[in-house]
Amino acid sequence: MPDGDPKIDTNTGPVIRQLDDTVISRIAAGEVVERPASAVKELVENAIDAGATRIDVEVADGGKSLIRVSDDGCGIPSEDLPLALARHATSKIDGSDLLAIRSFGFRGEALAALGAVGRLTLTSRVMGRDAGASIASAGGTLGAVRPAARGCGTTVELRDLFYATPARLKFLRTDRAEMQAVSDIVRRLAMAEPGIAFTLSQVTDGEARVSFRADAETGDLWGALRGRLGRIMGSDFTENALAIDAEREGLHLGGFAALPTFSRGAATHQYLFVNGRPVRDKLLTGALRAAYSDVLSRDRHPVAALFISCDPELVDVNVHPAKAEVRFRDPGTARGLVVSGLRHALAEAGHRSSSHLGGAALGAMRPEAGAPPVYQRDYTTRASWAPQPAPDLQPGFAEMGPSARFDPAPAPTPAGEVVEPAAPIEDYPLGAARAQLHENYIVAQTRSGVVIVDQHAAHERLVYERLKGQMAANGIASQALLVPQIVELPNGGADTLLAESDALAQLGLVIEPFGGGAVAVRETPALLGQVDAAKLLPDLLDALEEAGAGGGDAGLLGARLDAVLSRVACHGSVRSGRRMGAEEMNALLREMEATPHSGQCNHGRPTYVELKLSDIERLFGRA
Ligand SMILES: Nc1ncnc2c1ncn2[C@@H]1O[C@H](COP(=O)(O)OP(=O)(O)OP(=O)(O)O)[C@@H](O)[C@H]1O
Ligand SMILES: [Mg+2]
Repeated sequence: MPDGDPKIDTNTGPVIRQLDDTVISRIAAGEVVERPASAVKELVENAIDAGATRIDVEVADGGKSLIRVSDDGCGIPSEDLPLALARHATSKIDGSDLLAIRSFGFRGEALAALGAVGRLTLTSRVMGRDAGASIASAGGTLGAVRPAARGCGTTVELRDLFYATPARLKFLRTDRAEMQAVSDIVRRLAMAEPGIAFTLSQVTDGEARVSFRADAETGDLWGALRGRLGRIMGSDFTENALAIDAEREGLHLGGFAALPTFSRGAATHQYLFVNGRPVRDKLLTGALRAAYSDVLSRDRHPVAALFISCDPELVDVNVHPAKAEVRFRDPGTARGLVVSGLRHALAEAGHRSSSHLGGAALGAMRPEAGAPPVYQRDYTTRASWAPQPAPDLQPGFAEMGPSARFDPAPAPTPAGEVVEPAAPIEDYPLGAARAQLHENYIVAQTRSGVVIVDQHAAHERLVYERLKGQMAANGIASQALLVPQIVELPNGGADTLLAESDALAQLGLVIEPFGGGAVAVRETPALLGQVDAAKLLPDLLDALEEAGAGGGDAGLLGARLDAVLSRVACHGSVRSGRRMGAEEMNALLREMEATPHSGQCNHGRPTYVELKLSDIERLFGRA
């Protein structure tokens, strides 16, 4: 210890002192208010708790010099104003049951904290009273209650945040970065409250400019949520998302999750809410990833806004000073709900592929086309999710089905390499195959447009789904090679594979030791047709290594069977790069319609795009 440290008496050791209230409040405030965005979060949550129908947020200099939040909620009686600013004073719980928290607030901490680290003015008027009142607090010192003019509701103005704790100021980032964080939190909170109108304005030189506006959504819960999410995440998202509605042991999962073909390169477009609170929860994001693992490659990330709601007793919101984390009483149930709820919806969506792909394709064709659609950052929503039937935004194939009416269509003019007479199968979702182009693209005519299928990608997916089906039934059927193929696998690869030979045999791959770092391949999965084992085996080794990295000692194959099967399927694209007759092409289309997940290949790329006739007409300036 350096000499002269005031806290150390060299004769008697450290001196323990009681800190005064101002210091205690500032320390506590540091946990609650980390940056302007956390102040905005507390104030907006208070407004939501107060039953507001509109909330306006104004911010100057990234929130450092001014944050003002106004609402039209229930207001605070003038005699209670000092109490609202006192620590540990709340109207929201009585303390008897910390497990039954239904409001955002419960600690009675936020306003006191803000008053301790900035200059705060609280102005409020309760409905039915003819005057309002205000009180100020600066650095923790309360002023007197004064009459003030105001409509019903509350305004909290916070100036010079952290002026009383300059050390904290140094940790703030640029105004721009702080403003971005404020914008993020306002949008996130707005996602969960579609019935409340929000604005966020930036104040410069006394002039306010609205940077975000979301009007109150009307209609039923699903419609309102869909509208709000479209407003915040972009209508692209809602058009390409599946409505999620699932329940498990008292936990309800609602919201929207995008089709795999609408994935992103980063996990930043995932918005998770628990009882209306925006949360960043590893358990839930892990579950989201797991739900899509089968349909997305590792470097793609699902886009989703998901809302879990449950009895407050099933989740502890009191585990984090800023309430950013929650703890489920039964984490396994929460995880299982997300994984199975999403997987179920994805499987039901069948081969649906994103609608934006057709648009993107048209955009690419049009000379004056601008950049591909970009959608805004972010967020999700609260709302007590009373389970309601989810509307299917766009029907999956199952519901569409071929229409019962089969009219013969006139035979088309030959255009591609294969032309067949028109069949009534146009009524099927993927239509009637008309031609194959470049030995890989099937062009099909539907009732309302044109479908182009990437035959390689589609086939890969079908093989994968069939392999999974066989695996789940009695193991994958194999076919014996007339002459065993010898494959060299250096660096211990042969031993690694041989150690898994029993499991591999179940996958239809029978290998034996050949000595000298090589294996003899005797049988291969029958579904794949002719396989080049010299390419398949190194790929399998990679998959096993990845599985090893994921941990788990229940047998590597057991751990990531799907990943391994997906690799295997890539080697079975017998139909790619090869001409197909109309019958074979139509069989492929029909199989796609009947196969779950067939809208994207194993890497999350689309297997087909659809151009609507109306789009094509627009392309030619006809509409
Ligand atoms: N916008 C508002 N409208 C009406 N009442 C409010 C508003 N903001 C605060 N209050 C009242 O002031 C009290 C204190 O607010 P504060 O945010 O400090 O605590 P809290 O919301 O109860 O709990 P927490 O610290 O968890 O946010 C609230 O319990 C509420 O009664
Ligand atoms: Mg509060």
